Amino acid sequence: MSALLLRGGTVIDGTGAPGVRADVAVRDGRIAAVAPGLDPGDARVIDATGKAVCPGFIDIHSHSDESVLVNSALESALHQGVTLVVAGNCGGSSAPVLGLAAEDLAREIARYDLERTWTSFGEYAAAVERNGSTINVCSLVGHGTLRQGVMGGDARPPSPGELAAMKAILAAALADGSVGLSTGLIYPPSAYGTTEEIAALFEVVRDHQGLYASHIRNEGDRLVEAVEENLEIGRRSGVRVQLSHHKASGQRNWGKVRESTALIEQAREAGVDVIADQYPYTASSTGLAVTIPNWVHEGGSQALCERLRDPAVRVRIRDEYVETGRAWDRIVIARARHRPDWSGRTVAALAAEAGADPLEWTCDALVQHDGAIDIVHHSMSEDDVRFVMAKEWVAIGSDSRANAPYGPLSFGKPHPRSYGTFPRVLGRYARDERVLTLEDAVRKMTGLTASRLRLRERGLVREGWWADLVVFDPATVLDLATFDDPHRYPAGIEHVIVNGVPALEGGETASARPGRFLRLGRDAA
Ligand code: ZN
Ligand code: CU
Repeated sequence: MSALLLRGGTVIDGTGAPGVRADVAVRDGRIAAVAPGLDPGDARVIDATGKAVCPGFIDIHSHSDESVLVNSALESALHQGVTLVVAGNCGGSSAPVLGLAAEDLAREIARYDLERTWTSFGEYAAAVERNGSTINVCSLVGHGTLRQGVMGGDARPPSPGELAAMKAILAAALADGSVGLSTGLIYPPSAYGTTEEIAALFEVVRDHQGLYASHIRNEGDRLVEAVEENLEIGRRSGVRVQLSHHKASGQRNWGKVRESTALIEQAREAGVDVIADQYPYTASSTGLAVTIPNWVHEGGSQALCERLRDPAVRVRIRDEYVETGRAWDRIVIARARHRPDWSGRTVAALAAEAGADPLEWTCDALVQHDGAIDIVHHSMSEDDVRFVMAKEWVAIGSDSRANAPYGPLSFGKPHPRSYGTFPRVLGRYARDERVLTLEDAVRKMTGLTASRLRLRERGLVREGWWADLVVFDPATVLDLATFDDPHRYPAGIEHVIVNGVPALEGGETASARPGRFLRLGRDAA
């Protein structure tokens, strides 16, 4: 393997320590030396004068399970400086897939002309390895995927036999290298899981030293109760907890992150091993189907669409909405595969144009798309985003899949976080607005997340450690993707090195595919 010398940059090592001028020598996939004035010898020299050299960013909250098979370059992640994505978040993963989960996945990936060739987690990991990737990949198991495989879409607690089956399948996936389990407690069927069921499953995760990533049960009116439940699962099972995308959704809930933060800080002081992650935007992104109450989803997406055709069901849904009230003018369609013309427009506007009530329009649109439409929801406050970001125990994660500005992943107007998360924190929040220091911003993307995953010899610039590195320009780094024009790479990310090999060179995707599938037990413990 060829040798590299990153010469003349400022090394920001990922611990939060101030940057220091030093060269970084890379050989055989590892960081060979970190010191000023290194002799290049036969190494290829990359000029990093005036630039920052730091560990590759770790996207602790990714949904690139399928993207990695569609686009092995994982381009919107690579171009941000990401060198590891953690897939399988929010209760959904591409493995292990049994029963209804296997059927759903097969249907989903058929849209990309992909065939499901795996069932177990190990088989999925092997499929990703065969296909190759520019950057490293690892994955959690999704609780919804696990539950759907054993119990279909049933809205009930598991029988003792079903719980035992879920535990056994989970244990096998962890033994195959999955890094933990994620919940998506607003998404059926994960949402049908009881606290007892989830705590029991996390005992298995704890025994394997895995991570618990949780999309909690409510991020709006009952945010504080949902954080309590999450902490309770951590206390009961003793697992280490990653609270996903910490935020308060809906205008009347703005400011509640102060209460939830106080709760998390109390728990941390009492010994619960919990941190959170965050994406740096005031809009979320999810499926339009979340606007439909959980009971309508029982049995899966086909059952959902069946029910949505029934006028009596729509009346019941409407009665529930009188209480909660949806801000249809803040919900923007990101991707609806039969209707590219809907992308970037609000439900309120589309419904008005069709002369329909927004809820009726939503039900019709979901039926037309088998329940699968992506939305962007402008639901948070800037003040909350900054408050959360300033906490030292909050990591950065994109909560998105990797997209690309060409091919099937360029469809629609996805949330710009897919292209902009990491440069936005570095450029806008650290450099321009000084919400945090540049060194701390880097730590939240590297050292903090690596220690959370217990990665072996990754996440810091250290001699002997894996050479996952980014060279960026601190003066120009910035996200350029916007809600109207999301498929845009950021500015200032110049070189990305993965396992010692350049994967992005001078801002261009290289042809190499040096990424590895990282496994618990081998690459993390
Ligand atoms: Zn989520
Ligand atoms: Cu997510």
